[in-house]
Amino acid sequence: LDNGVARTPPMGWNSWNTFGCNINESLIRGMADAMVSSGMRDAGYQYVVVDDCWMNPNRDSAGNLQGDPTRFPSGMKALGDYIHARGLKFGIYQAPLDKTCAQYFNSYPGATGAQGHEAQDARQFVAWGVDFLKYDWCSPAGSINDQVATFAKMRDALAATGRPIVYSINPNSIHAKTGPQRNWGDVANMWRTTEDISAAWDTGQTNGYPMGVKNIVDVTVPLAGYARPGSFNDPDMMEVGRSGLNETEQRSHFALWAIMASPLIAGNDVRSQSTTTRDILTNPRLIAINQDTLGLQGTQVSYDGTRRVLAKRLANGDVAVALFNQGGSTTTISTTAAAIGKSGSSFTLLDAWTGATSSSTGGISASVPAHGTAVFRVSGGGVNPTPTGTTLVSAASGRC
Ligand code: DGJ
Repeated sequence: LDNGVARTPPMGWNSWNTFGCNINESLIRGMADAMVSSGMRDAGYQYVVVDDCWMNPNRDSAGNLQGDPTRFPSGMKALGDYIHARGLKFGIYQAPLDKTCAQYFNSYPGATGAQGHEAQDARQFVAWGVDFLKYDWCSPAGSINDQVATFAKMRDALAATGRPIVYSINPNSIHAKTGPQRNWGDVANMWRTTEDISAAWDTGQTNGYPMGVKNIVDVTVPLAGYARPGSFNDPDMMEVGRSGLNETEQRSHFALWAIMASPLIAGNDVRSQSTTTRDILTNPRLIAINQDTLGLQGTQVSYDGTRRVLAKRLANGDVAVALFNQGGSTTTISTTAAAIGKSGSSFTLLDAWTGATSSSTGGISASVPAHGTAVFRVSGGGVNPTPTGTTLVSAASGRC
């Protein structure tokens, strides 16, 4: 979406994965503080997103949304001010029809969805200083055309306010699994590609609840052609730093989100994260690959059912390559500079995990542990003018 924001994948933190409905203003303030003290903000994480369950179940007498008076006693404007004062940006959650997901599924009281209030809610968000809206379809599944029209209504309402706001949509909550079928780049800055992520490697799902990291990669890799500055596939908030994935899997998760040009939205408790978690989430070489200004998603170079190679062309002519071992035992994964779109015969490989460099005459190869991902930034030689690899879905499909 060309609304001036999200020219690279948005980075931030969201309350849902760890806290669900158990949120309040001191938690969110503490998280904003921890984003600063941990170095996350300075590594590029900007948006502090309050997910579902912040609302007063009743609109006020003028129909305006309000924060829950017990859990957000200072009000949402004060929360936004607190976040902004720390050099961060404020994100909030709403749903397009009558109810939020928690109002549907988690017995959260009220029916405060935006239906019929789109312009009013957009103005309210602006009054609170909101910089990012997560808009979560959680109502009986509509047709794809209903979804497009409904999501576009809030897009237009946000645009009418004149404030730059990242528009993040989820067409996939619980039932309406329409995300991967369409390029939402005409509607939103980022759109979920699957049902909810969980802190699991493989739940066996491709179109159901909950998804594992590997399952989300399977669905999102073929959508590479949709990504461009302003418009990114969203494979969901990260599970790095939460129990359920071993360290190798957490590293893979982060590396794959980085090379898929995915929004990097942390979902862990930043206040108590380990140094290992912090070091994964703030790896400067992987963040640079993710935040590259070309805004390309890594495309698939090869895949044999176990060994998957993805390549992402970068603005300075380098190409990032991920060697992803989906199998259960250590294996060697190899590709070549030519296969990832490089020309020439002399290259430098920067290992994105260790920072070590090595030289190569064209071979790129690593021994990769089960569920691991090696990432190299390949420089030297020339680069083909077009994105590398196989784009399995054409960039034009579904775009108005
Ligand atoms: C479903 C979404 O996929 C989650 O990320 C979260 O926003 C919940 N809804 C909130 O109810």
